[in-house]
Amino acid sequence: MTKKRLSIFASGSGSNAEKFFEYFQNHPQIEIASVFTNNKSAGVIERAQRFNIKHHVYNRSFWQTGETIVEVLESEKIDFIVLAGFMLLIPKALVARFPNRIFNIHPALLPKFGGQGMYGMNVHKAVKAAGETETGLTIHYVNEYYDEGAIIFQESCTINPTDSAEEIAAKVLRLEHKNYPKVVEQEVLKSI
Ligand code: GRF
Repeated sequence: MTKKRLSIFASGSGSNAEKFFEYFQNHPQIEIASVFTNNKSAGVIERAQRFNIKHHVYNRSFWQTGETIVEVLESEKIDFIVLAGFMLLIPKALVARFPNRIFNIHPALLPKFGGQGMYGMNVHKAVKAAGETETGLTIHYVNEYYDEGAIIFQESCTINPTDSAEEIAAKVLRLEHKNYPKVVEQEVLKSI
């Protein structure tokens, strides 16, 4: 039985990506086949190299139509795509080729604090400024609009009034690391 092959898209540090590398290192049915990034200095590259996972760097122009990316994903026989801190909008051609096969994680309880420009610290600053008493993470399928695909999983955490945006970010990141690989595993195994 060939394993289901996942490719991870990341633009930044890649701490979520590394949790996937660790979680699926010797998985019987699922493997991490490659990493794609739009940022040649992304931390995720060094993390992928440490796990001997192939990485591709494609600059912004390739992400307009996504045709080249689709060709490479097909040549690698990728079954699912995991966005883990990927900053560009996923082109329609890619969403069409991988319907309900692209996952994303958002560091807030969507639909609140989502949409274009809502990423990284912008989210946690907005959550704090709004005086929220809780926040959390959302794992959802990707469609061609930012953060609007079907929600798969959410988990919340409390916010104390004294929490800085950085402390909120750290709380949410811990929840992300704890949940994202497991939730994706459950969804992928449903397709077997
Ligand atoms: C995470 O906070 C995630 O919610 C968001 O981008 C961040 C990625 O962090 N989509 P890392 O690069 O995985 O450390």
